[in-house]
Amino acid sequence: MSDDGSKPPSDAGADAAPSSGADGAPASSGPAGGGAAEEAPVGAAPASGTGATPGDKQPSAGGTGAEEGAAGASAGAASEDPPAASATKSSAAAGDKKVKSSEKPKSGEKAPSRTGASKSSVKSTGSGRKRGAGATLENARIGFLGAGKLVEAIVKGLVGHAKVAPGRIYVSSKSGRSLDGFKQNGCVVTKRNYDLFAKLDCDVVFVAVHGHVIRELFKLGGTRPVALTTNYIPNQRHPLYLLSLVGGIPLTDLKQTLLNPDHPDKYKLEAHRVMLNASVAYGLGLGALDIEPDSKKCATVVRDVLTSVAKLEYFPETTMDAVCALGGNGLAFVHYFISALSDGGFKMGMPKVVAVKMATKTLQSAAACLLESGKHPSDLRDACTSPSGPAIYGLHLLESKDTASGLAAAVEGAFKRVRELVESK
Ligand SMILES: NC(=O)c1ccc[n+]([C@@H]2O[C@H](COP(=O)([O-])OP(=O)(O)OC[C@H]3O[C@@H](n4cnc5c(N)ncnc54)[C@H](OP(=O)(O)O)[C@@H]3O)[C@@H](O)[C@H]2O)c1
Repeated sequence: MSDDGSKPPSDAGADAAPSSGADGAPASSGPAGGGAAEEAPVGAAPASGTGATPGDKQPSAGGTGAEEGAAGASAGAASEDPPAASATKSSAAAGDKKVKSSEKPKSGEKAPSRTGASKSSVKSTGSGRKRGAGATLENARIGFLGAGKLVEAIVKGLVGHAKVAPGRIYVSSKSGRSLDGFKQNGCVVTKRNYDLFAKLDCDVVFVAVHGHVIRELFKLGGTRPVALTTNYIPNQRHPLYLLSLVGGIPLTDLKQTLLNPDHPDKYKLEAHRVMLNASVAYGLGLGALDIEPDSKKCATVVRDVLTSVAKLEYFPETTMDAVCALGGNGLAFVHYFISALSDGGFKMGMPKVVAVKMATKTLQSAAACLLESGKHPSDLRDACTSPSGPAIYGLHLLESKDTASGLAAAVEGAFKRVRELVESK
């Protein structure tokens, strides 16, 4: 036992020679068919000999942890333990069977074959899955911890625009309230966050809960935060890419709620802060990543998943909250601005639909010119303003209405609100 009463980490699985396949995919790795996981959330632990170590129990200080939706809810350790490594053959087999059915591409989707990965880096699992360093957009299992509006937008973009088969998308949320829509669309859902890392064996996991959820785990814990996944996530031999969308929470804090503190360096895990705005739903998002997306340091699967729905920019992690306020929430402000601009046209007698289209295209052409020329907006503003002409009269009116400071304050307000929400709940 560790001094906080949690189970000692077991490295046996990690170090043992895999009995089959050897890439470390949990033996019970087959996800249930669409939507089945929340009904049978057990069997999550990787079986021994697969190279994966079951996640260790969370510190006891925090009571029952973050996964109330797990079988047994607030029950004690027994129901929250990762399911025994001794998952029966039949359940493993059933899992595998379900993998096949859940991964069947629906019409118009790319087949979720693992063979897209480069041969040299891919090993085969006993269950026939191929993976390794070579997870790709075409074969990766993509998980979402949290099932809110942003996840809805990302999944919509991945399925509708990047043609990712919904059977390769795995979504967990605490209450399960918002899982129905994902399930109906063919995604695999679960109320246990832990499943994403164990039974469902995701390659890429987006964390998309609110910051206060993470902060709360620190408040509940004693010397260590309570685990977000009830039990610390298992070691996996294939790389795991953790992409945090969580506003106001540094990666170091997030990792403390997921990784076993007794051996945090044993994980084959890369964690990044990410910003994606809601335009990802249309495959036209703006994204930010805390690593240069074009560099060799950025894993191909991370780059490909993100760029399949968004144009990606590099920003250091420390600036990510500001980036979210401007590039994420700013999207709402831009829509507000377009709506206001079109109201002007409407007021002057244009049909509403025409006015909205015109305002949108005006914004599009301004944005394109800025990007093309690399100039500052005030330079381009001057270029389209003539002496004593209508544009300067309009601009002066805008200034008298505090439009500029209002827009800047909106970004500042969004930035501060994230911090406020993290601390206040
Ligand atoms: N980076 C960006 O561009 C960007 C943009 C917008 C938002 N965000 C960030 O993304 C996060 C989510 O935003 P959102 O707008 O999608 O929020 P939202 O719609 O309020 O959804 C939050 C989700 O978190 C789930 N949740 C809460 N506690 C959980 C737990 N312990 N385990 C698993 N799931 C849990 C909720 O599930 P239940 O319904 O079951 O409680 C819900 O599905 C926030 O941190 C936000 O700041 C980032």
